[in-house]
Amino acid sequence: MLYIIEHLDGNRLYKWCFLEYKHISEIIGKKNILFTNINGEKAKQQLFPYGKVESKSVTELQPKRVCILDPLADKILSSADKNNFDSFIFGGILGDYPPRKRTKAKLSDKLQCEKRSLGDKQMSTDTAVYVTKKILDGAAFEKLEFQDEIEIPVKNGLSIELPYRYVVENGTIMISQELVAFMKKKKGI
Ligand SMILES: C[S@@+](CC[C@H](N)C(=O)[O-])C[C@H]1O[C@@H](n2cnc3c(N)ncnc32)[C@H](O)[C@@H]1O
Repeated sequence: MLYIIEHLDGNRLYKWCFLEYKHISEIIGKKNILFTNINGEKAKQQLFPYGKVESKSVTELQPKRVCILDPLADKILSSADKNNFDSFIFGGILGDYPPRKRTKAKLSDKLQCEKRSLGDKQMSTDTAVYVTKKILDGAAFEKLEFQDEIEIPVKNGLSIELPYRYVVENGTIMISQELVAFMKKKKGI
């Protein structure tokens, strides 16, 4: 199964986004990941260790038997979908609140293919990839445990609120620990 991450932030690859992509590579394994629409030379070099890198957009590549993960899709992803598709496409976009429907505008409206949702709550890209893998591996969507907003304590008693849906497993929130460390170190908080 191929997981395609269509980068939608132009030539820039923000550290936050890079850490999510790295986390995706840890979850899926680099052989099954394709980063598309990567045009900055620095971004290419940064991503080579974590998956295949392609400068074309997935909308130009027009792959067959693919499915876009879009919060606005009518159908929820099910385990049976692993037989229907060879690849799943995700938007490489940082979350925005309220959501601006960018997955639909930048991917779903441009590629003629099936679309699936993981529910109507916005997840980070790495969480969406993780949930997709869990479902394709046989987990039922309704059986997964989620938390719809998380708070990361940073410094001086302050915290960062992330108004997105995260997976909870064995009482622990599934989030990149490198990303948490990055938030804690970030200047200007
Ligand atoms: C942070 S989300 C970006 C969502 C963006 N704000 C929008 O309105 O479409 C990044 C990617 O994760 C996937 N994703 C996140 N939540 C999802 C959901 N509930 N259902 C399906 N895909 C989801 C989509 O592929 C999406 O492009």
